[in-house]
Amino acid sequence: MNSVLFVCLGNICRSPLADGIARKISPKNWKIDGAGTSAFHSGEPPDIRMQKTALKHDYDLSNLKSRQVKTIDFHNFDYIVAMDSQNYADLKDLQPKNSHAQLLQLLKLGDFGAIDVPDPYYGGEQGFEDCFSLVESGVVAFFKRVISK
Ligand code: 4NP
Repeated sequence: MNSVLFVCLGNICRSPLADGIARKISPKNWKIDGAGTSAFHSGEPPDIRMQKTALKHDYDLSNLKSRQVKTIDFHNFDYIVAMDSQNYADLKDLQPKNSHAQLLQLLKLGDFGAIDVPDPYYGGEQGFEDCFSLVESGVVAFFKRVISK
């Protein structure tokens, strides 16, 4: 079983989107999850604006629930994929020295014209669409990268 954990700040916008896309497009033998570096929204479903945008593109996020990333995640997942540079830095600080997970930054897996998925939480509807395009391209690039290995 291969496994990947997608991580953003709140785990209600960007990482649940990556999680929902990955659950649909990954090969069958993959375990997929999402988490936030913060516990701000623990237990909550994805932001309704993110759910609506994802549903327009045929991805259903309604069964996901926010949780905070834990040290044990670095032992339980093969890959931990950060949505932006701040998430990456926070994860790097949290990563135990002897842990198994490979830490990656989503938009560094291809040439997407940006290295950070902008946080759409405080913006308008277009921000959620822009987030969708970047995250979908990034998740496709992730599976191409890890499966061709
Ligand atoms: P996310 O977006 O990290 O993509 O889930 C955010 C959601 C909520 C907050 C920040 C970012 N917040 O500060 O509540």
